[in-house]
Amino acid sequence: MSITETFRNETVFVTGSTGFLGKILTEKLLRSFDVKNIAVLVRGKNGLAASQRAVDLFEQPIFDRLRIEKPDFMTKIKIIDGHLEEQSLGISSNNRDWLIKNVNFVFHCAATIKFNETLQIATKINIQGTENILVLASNMNNLKGFVYVSTAYSHCPRSEIKEEFYHVPITAKELKQLIKINSKIDNVSVDWPNTYTFTKALAENMILTNDNQLPISIFRPSIVGCTQSEPEPYWLDNIQGLAAVVTSLIIGFVRVVPMNLNKKTDIVPVDYTVNALISVMWDTVNRYKNSNERNKDPKMYNYVSSIDSTLYWSTFIDYVYETYHKVPPLQSMWYICCVFSANRWIINIMKFLLHRVPAALVDLSLFIYGENPKMLKMYSRKEKMIDTVKVFITNEWKFDNSNTRELWTLLSQEDRKRFWFSFENFDWKSYIQNLVYGIRKHILLEDLNNITEALLKHRKLFWLHQLCICFSIYIIFQVYWMFMVLLI
Ligand SMILES: NC(=O)c1ccc[n+]([C@@H]2O[C@H](COP(=O)([O-])OP(=O)(O)OC[C@H]3O[C@@H](n4cnc5c(N)ncnc54)[C@H](OP(=O)(O)O)[C@@H]3O)[C@@H](O)[C@H]2O)c1
Repeated sequence: MSITETFRNETVFVTGSTGFLGKILTEKLLRSFDVKNIAVLVRGKNGLAASQRAVDLFEQPIFDRLRIEKPDFMTKIKIIDGHLEEQSLGISSNNRDWLIKNVNFVFHCAATIKFNETLQIATKINIQGTENILVLASNMNNLKGFVYVSTAYSHCPRSEIKEEFYHVPITAKELKQLIKINSKIDNVSVDWPNTYTFTKALAENMILTNDNQLPISIFRPSIVGCTQSEPEPYWLDNIQGLAAVVTSLIIGFVRVVPMNLNKKTDIVPVDYTVNALISVMWDTVNRYKNSNERNKDPKMYNYVSSIDSTLYWSTFIDYVYETYHKVPPLQSMWYICCVFSANRWIINIMKFLLHRVPAALVDLSLFIYGENPKMLKMYSRKEKMIDTVKVFITNEWKFDNSNTRELWTLLSQEDRKRFWFSFENFDWKSYIQNLVYGIRKHILLEDLNNITEALLKHRKLFWLHQLCICFSIYIIFQVYWMFMVLLI
């Protein structure tokens, strides 16, 4: 049965549909399939009720193509008001009964992806939340497939990551008990660089030891980047992680980034990721039709690009610079100029010279003009943010993606066209160019019609930058000269 046939007239439950990946997943499911219903778990947030947030969500421009191709798509959507961490997900009994009776497929994407989240909150959302979804799913009468979205870095303390379960130092249950005793506990294992990857590893382990025998798979994408083409090219809306680093770089704010240019990147476009995720669901359903599968460990799929199409950080940065010179943002603060190094000493010295000293000078002038100094604070915040992604841009991993490759071979020609996720002949240059365009359009909210003005500003910033370099060399030379005179 084709992927399209598998989803026909079926009901899908998606968590995390208001997030970066979840939006593209929900859009693709609605656009590609004649599903019966899509139930989306949405929580009330920032004073807005779940229903209002869902309405706002589907009014976003990313759903414009869907609006044209499937004008009645809203009739298929069922909003489930709930919070992952609450008991029984905090959903009403009517909604719970509806889900139990109707849902055939569950995509569990919701998570907190804040790297520096407290262990308590990360545990509540990523572990307890996943457990709550598993309990609900195990009561579903007609469940055919469940895919848990993890991350390729869940076991990042290892240098080689295969598509298998690995040992964790503590079980999810033990961690929850520890937190009950001491809610302030913030570190259980020194091996994991952050609470995000740690709680994701424990959630995977919880799925392994879950004896509900659900038709379940685990999908592990690496760093998810902007869309390649669907529903539109270079769309993104997450201002965390890599996108945040590139944004700070192209506006000339950040001049020092801890990055090892000789290491491999591992980026996957969000639309490819969604296609792979849908294909994993299709494979899961097919596998579990054979009931013997229920006694086996859930299957893992690493979704990574570095094996089939390698890109180094040095080339990534070259492409970013190249695009920047063609389409610099109008709101650039300074000419693009950045030191990349994996050496702690170089980074610290350069941070002092290229971030702190200029920031202190700006703050001093703000103070003199009676305004609030803010640059040092802004740099401190930005440096902290970059430190949270440091581990992913200064290291590389040897991944295995045999299951994902095998899955690709199982797809029919027709399904491959509609759900393309292979990195065969992937054009990184045009993709990274698109990433910069996407950041310019969706994060910096700049249209390409300001390009002449932006290039003019860019030229001025270039000469200002050169002037500063000459001035700095002059100062260094003068100081050196003064010392020499004193010594003689
Ligand atoms: N982005 C990446 O580079 C990447 C890489 C590998 C794996 N992944 C995985 O992909 C999945 C989606 O990531 P993403 O990038 O789309 O993250 P995201 O943009 O931060 O979205 C997270 C989603 O989870 C929801 N959520 C968080 N806490 C919740 C709670 N307590 N109750 C209900 N919903 C909650 C959020 O809802 P609100 O809108 O209400 O906050 C949002 O819809 C995650 O499982 C992540 O681990 C992401």
